[in-house]
Amino acid sequence: MKLRATARALVAEGKGILAVDESTSTCNKRFAAHGIEGSEPMRRAFRDLLLCAPGLNEYISGAILYDETLRQSVEDGRPFVEAMNECGIFPGIKVDTGLVPLAGAPEEQVTQGLDGLRERIRDYFKIGARFTKWRAVFVIGVTSPSAAAIRANVHALARYAALAQEGGLVPIVEPEVLMDGSHVIEASRRAHERVLQALFEELAVFGVARDAMILKCSMVLAGSGAAEQPPVDRVAAETLAVLGRCVPPDVAGIAFLSGGQSDELATRHLDAINRRAPDAPWPLTFSYGRALQQAALGIWGGKSSNVPAARRALLERASENAAASRGRYLEPAVV
Ligand code: 13P
Repeated sequence: MKLRATARALVAEGKGILAVDESTSTCNKRFAAHGIEGSEPMRRAFRDLLLCAPGLNEYISGAILYDETLRQSVEDGRPFVEAMNECGIFPGIKVDTGLVPLAGAPEEQVTQGLDGLRERIRDYFKIGARFTKWRAVFVIGVTSPSAAAIRANVHALARYAALAQEGGLVPIVEPEVLMDGSHVIEASRRAHERVLQALFEELAVFGVARDAMILKCSMVLAGSGAAEQPPVDRVAAETLAVLGRCVPPDVAGIAFLSGGQSDELATRHLDAINRRAPDAPWPLTFSYGRALQQAALGIWGGKSSNVPAARRALLERASENAAASRGRYLEPAVV
């Protein structure tokens, strides 16, 4: 019962999820692009900027953290988990341990992290996490995603989700079809269909309660290097068609990843999806990382004097995406 209530709260109307679960190396890489030192105190400071932005809870229901952050504290000494609970933002934790090349198909990857996962979930629950995330990635190429990559990854996702529910955490199940490449949107549609169909078959085999899980998926897009980019409405229509065919109606909610889209486009796509499907069986919201954080990171630049301006940028992105989750992003302001 509690799991279902948490899942519903994470996708409550007008709210989405903030992904702040970059591994240390990914976070440092993003810092380096802005000339920011990649150190533990700087990572803590940036996560503090994001997670403790006053008013964030109006738009954000939960934040996915990386292990390091779950164990760190706010400037005033309270653990992040405590500060988040006080303002009604659920603490979540990424539990996969990353990607390795798939044997026999080295251009594809499989996600690791099942060994010892039951124990890690137990520890994370004790620290205060209430939901969790595991990400699998699929590339689109001439022979990919291969049947092997799909089978290996959906199997891991299903075993992870079952362990998460057993341990009291709501699983966010994230199959990401990457937008890298020059493929047309139809190729993305086919890849999404194959992956999502296989995923829900496997989740059923492992007895995962769909009303106590959240699907975090990519949108159906043309490759980022494609000669032509489809209009926003086409992306919305293709994405909804795939979800309608592959995702059972009792899934608690769908929260999209941004996957390298520009901030603005990620918001416009979410808006168009919700405008087209006001009566979809699941809430359709966001679980963005880059599309929420990018602007704030650039403004911050590692300087504490820039924290207020960076927080304003984060809140603007969060409120715009919250509006998009209601299909109200592009509505003219009422005067
Ligand atoms: P992006 O929105 O930056 O794709 O990040 C979401 C995420 O959690 C990727 O795993």
